[in-house]
Amino acid sequence: MNITSETVAVITGGASGIGLGLAEAVVDRGGSVVVSDIRHDALPAALEHLNGRGAPGRAIGVRADVSEAADVDALASSTMEAFGRVDLVCNNAGLVSPAMPAWEQEPATWDRMIRVKVMGVIHGIRSFVPHLVAQGSGHVLNTASSAGLAPLAGRSPYTTTMHAVVGLTETLDIELRAISGALGATVLCPGLVDTPLGANSATLGAISAPSGPPVDMRSLRPDILSPRQVADAALEAVAAGRVHVAPGGDVAERAQARVDLLLRDIIGRAPADRG
Ligand SMILES: NC(=O)c1ccc[n+]([C@@H]2O[C@H](COP(=O)([O-])OP(=O)(O)OC[C@H]3O[C@@H](n4cnc5c(N)ncnc54)[C@H](O)[C@@H]3O)[C@@H](O)[C@H]2O)c1
Repeated sequence: MNITSETVAVITGGASGIGLGLAEAVVDRGGSVVVSDIRHDALPAALEHLNGRGAPGRAIGVRADVSEAADVDALASSTMEAFGRVDLVCNNAGLVSPAMPAWEQEPATWDRMIRVKVMGVIHGIRSFVPHLVAQGSGHVLNTASSAGLAPLAGRSPYTTTMHAVVGLTETLDIELRAISGALGATVLCPGLVDTPLGANSATLGAISAPSGPPVDMRSLRPDILSPRQVADAALEAVAAGRVHVAPGGDVAERAQARVDLLLRDIIGRAPADRG
């Protein structure tokens, strides 16, 4: 699905980071965007940025907590009231979990990550996909992570929920394509992206506030991606009808290592071992 001036997109977690990058990429292509976020106070600056850049598209803001089914239903109603249709549903809102081994992670952490990252995506699917099916066209773009393709030790609630989003999206894509070739789903699995995910997760109480001055990730990891690079890669994958998109230097290698290990364990050899 290509983004045109007719496209209406909704983006959860859209006030910051990858979500804001996606919103920018859609309005720059002429589409309309409903930017949604749990942080109501972050929406005005995001809208000013999107509507003040001379882009052909426009953005409106709606506050919603994706872990609440009623909020996501209301978001779908607001989108339909404002634009009369929805074409691209970006279930992107997310948090990071504290760094510690699986057995030390608090039940509250597991609960929060599952409610936001898994149930949040499920609520997005339940509230919006019936509109896509009724229209006979549209696409779901779910943000997971490279941690959805390969394990990230020390972040088991994050890894667990991101794997769930990958499996959910692959299944959804099959179900949608069985109805129409104009329907589909894509999962975005980036490596490290230059966003305030840690600071926002701390503000929302998911992790402790980092001590000391803010870390300049660009100086530590010059290969870090910008949100806009990730957004453009995601929209290219949506246009091409690809189910997976995984921008970032080492993501393909990490996914390859996991697939090799999986096949070695279950059939005794990795694809690379085949003669
Ligand atoms: N930054 C990275 O390196 C990276 C890498 C791979 C995947 N991701 C994933 O990308 C997604 C976006 O993260 P980001 O890096 O852009 O961080 P970000 O903090 O800049 O954006 C996430 C947004 O989600 C919002 N949010 C959090 N909980 C919410 C809720 N319950 N309801 C609605 N909105 C909520 C936050 O307020 C924030 O604006 C997340 O799912 C994250 O796990 C990030």
